[in-house]
Amino acid sequence: MKKISISHAKDIYFRELEYLKDGISNSKNPYHFLYLSTLNNNFPQSRTVVLRDFKNKPSKILFNADFRSPKVKQLIENSNCLALFYDNDRKVQLRFNCRAIINHKNSLSSKVWSKTPLQSRKCYMGDLEPSKLINNWDPNIPIEYLKKDPEQKNSELGYENFTVIELIVNNLDLLELHHDGHIRFNIHNDKITFLAP
Ligand SMILES: Cc1cc2nc3c(=O)[nH]c(=O)nc-3n(C[C@H](O)[C@H](O)[C@H](O)COP(=O)(O)O)c2cc1C
Repeated sequence: MKKISISHAKDIYFRELEYLKDGISNSKNPYHFLYLSTLNNNFPQSRTVVLRDFKNKPSKILFNADFRSPKVKQLIENSNCLALFYDNDRKVQLRFNCRAIINHKNSLSSKVWSKTPLQSRKCYMGDLEPSKLINNWDPNIPIEYLKKDPEQKNSELGYENFTVIELIVNNLDLLELHHDGHIRFNIHNDKITFLAP
């Protein structure tokens, strides 16, 4: 029977941190996307978002969102959330329990906005609050920019709605599937504890 030590688990953890870092810019890496669950009162809500940055020590996951969106309202109401990643080729699941910090019109959001391409900026320029019920289809992007990027000056309108969400990781539940016995462990404050798969 195979034996998995704490040192082996540590190697798996460090390997996954490298995959997460690669996922920031590599859209072919499944970790480019994460599934964020929040609480809407007592009901869970999950959605896909794009990984924009990952920092270690302390671990932080960053993504962008519209300040007016329900997910941001939910995180303001209750900052506890879960970020889920799954790589189906390597059969690895990462579940991060986190606390969210909303960066809106502050130094971090301003720094990230300055590097946000015009093509992405238009997503924050719609008049409608995201998830608002509408009678007829509306792309919620100014009509003149449907097929082209906004000019730099006009694109600044989107900054009002632009938010960078930092997820401060509390603990990670890592699961790697194997035919001869799955490997599962928890990491909290750098301490690894095996969990029954
Ligand atoms: C591939 C993909 C990537 C997405 N990336 C983001 C993202 O980075 N930020 C975001 O706010 N919404 C993103 N969305 C949209 C959300 O999944 C969601 O539908 C929308 O933001 C409304 O969420 P809410 O009502 O929970 O706020 C993405 C959707 C898909 C399918």
